[in-house]
Amino acid sequence: MKTCRLSSSLMKALNDQITMEAYSSQVYLMLSSWADNQGYAGISGFLFRHSQEERSHMAKLIEYIQERGGKVVIDAIKKPGGEPKSVQECFEMVFKQEVENTTAIYKIVKMSMEEEDWATWNHLQWFVGEQLEEEKYALSLLDKIKIAGGKNAPDTALYELNKDLSKTPQKTPIADNLDLEA
Ligand code: FEO
Repeated sequence: MKTCRLSSSLMKALNDQITMEAYSSQVYLMLSSWADNQGYAGISGFLFRHSQEERSHMAKLIEYIQERGGKVVIDAIKKPGGEPKSVQECFEMVFKQEVENTTAIYKIVKMSMEEEDWATWNHLQWFVGEQLEEEKYALSLLDKIKIAGGKNAPDTALYELNKDLSKTPQKTPIADNLDLEA
């Protein structure tokens, strides 16, 4: 008896999205490490916390595939691209990463709709909402650096921006208390 409630194509797409979220997490880690090395501890911490958030997205997808009787396949994660040359470029990379992730999520939403897999469609609505929030965040980072002076932002403005981001609250679940229902 077939117990898997996901089509093979949808299961593959969801598994690919697991890898995509893991890749996003690595990109944020790379950017966080770059920022730390430049002396921007506040920006680094912000990006590190976001890297953790991407891991929680990955975990949410793993749990969903398993709940539907599917098989999770953990794949290799590609290496993040090169490091940024400025805070502005760093934030542009954040925005690009989020837009790519949104595009990937939309593709699976469309697939689930075409297959009339309403459980998956419904589950993915959480991700649609989350991507909206994350793009909003990324855009606000670009606004902040623009106000600070863009690529030529003076040290005093970067100092304030760094301080500002160190206070930005984010969801930073650890494995033991991941709220996968949220
Ligand atoms: Fe999991 Fe930043 O999207």
